[in-house]
Amino acid sequence: MFRQLILGVGNNWLVSQAMQQYGMRLGASRFVAGSELDDAIKVVKDLNRDGIRATLDHLGESITRAEEAIQARDSYLRMLEVIHQEGVQSHVSLKLTMMGLNLSVDMARENLRQIVAKAHDYGNFVRIDMEDSRFTTDTLNLFQEIWSEYPANVGVVLQAYLYRTMDDLKTLSGVGRNLRIVKGAYMEPVSVAFPSKPDVDDNYVRLVEYSLSHGNYTAVATHDEVIIGHVLRYVKDHHIAADQFEFQMLYGVKYSVLRDLAREGYQTRVYVPWGRDWYAYYLRRIAERPANLLFFARNLVKR
Ligand code: FDA
Repeated sequence: MFRQLILGVGNNWLVSQAMQQYGMRLGASRFVAGSELDDAIKVVKDLNRDGIRATLDHLGESITRAEEAIQARDSYLRMLEVIHQEGVQSHVSLKLTMMGLNLSVDMARENLRQIVAKAHDYGNFVRIDMEDSRFTTDTLNLFQEIWSEYPANVGVVLQAYLYRTMDDLKTLSGVGRNLRIVKGAYMEPVSVAFPSKPDVDDNYVRLVEYSLSHGNYTAVATHDEVIIGHVLRYVKDHHIAADQFEFQMLYGVKYSVLRDLAREGYQTRVYVPWGRDWYAYYLRRIAERPANLLFFARNLVKR
């Protein structure tokens, strides 16, 4: 309900104009590493010093012109080069609508293929984020295609709030896929997604257990400490090897919990977004948690 409200109001043209002008000062910088790649690389170095890896995301989605998709592809190619040159421990995460999926599947495929090929050359890895449910089928199909060419260098995200996800997981499992499992951050109708949080949480646990017990490398991407505790017990009881899973969190959220997991010897990773096109991402972070709206309001008053 709260998510629908925030995402609905946030998409209003006037609100989005005002936010894009003042948003960084109104708190977006808590969740975004900076507007330039250098800012994000500094953050990655700090994370690496704490024994935590990263995945870098150049913010942007739903482009409207083919040239923007080319720019986005080039930005990711450069990001992979810089990661390599700087010797930092970081993957990249991308959205296919930034690569042109909303304009043409062929365009997105070609851009994705070039990025994954470069990741392959550098021994790196590309995670395809999952966007709203209009793109789920195309995203999974493109993932499967590119995975068959570069099985070690590309992974995808599955969202626990979608009814279809357990079936998708069953289709993908069995050949050692690399999957990130999240609850889901978009505004979805009840015809495709569980409307109640307890149902999403239950499905999340079922998906992670299925993924771990069917040989997928599983990125458990949540800040939910109850679920994390459950997963820790599950991997112990079922003798799941420590190199078969990792915990992931978003930059700016519950860092101390992730650092404790890293100190206990678990593999960990922070999702580090950077860039000027932060508005839609920030809106989803506010929508996830009512308290973030207070945080936003406090920054408004401080100005
Ligand atoms: P839940 O929402 O239940 O939160 C558990 C607790 O975590 C909250 O009580 C609060 O304390 C804290 N918390 C959660 N979100 C917070 C926030 N924004 N600010 C402050 N505290 C917060 N989604 C998607 O649809 N496609 C994708 O590709 C991805 N990718 C992705 C990568 C990574 C590494 C993560 C961690 C998450 C995503 N997501 C995503 C977002 C995901 O779907 C989900 O919206 C958020 O992770 C919030 O859900 P939690 O699992 O944390 O649980």
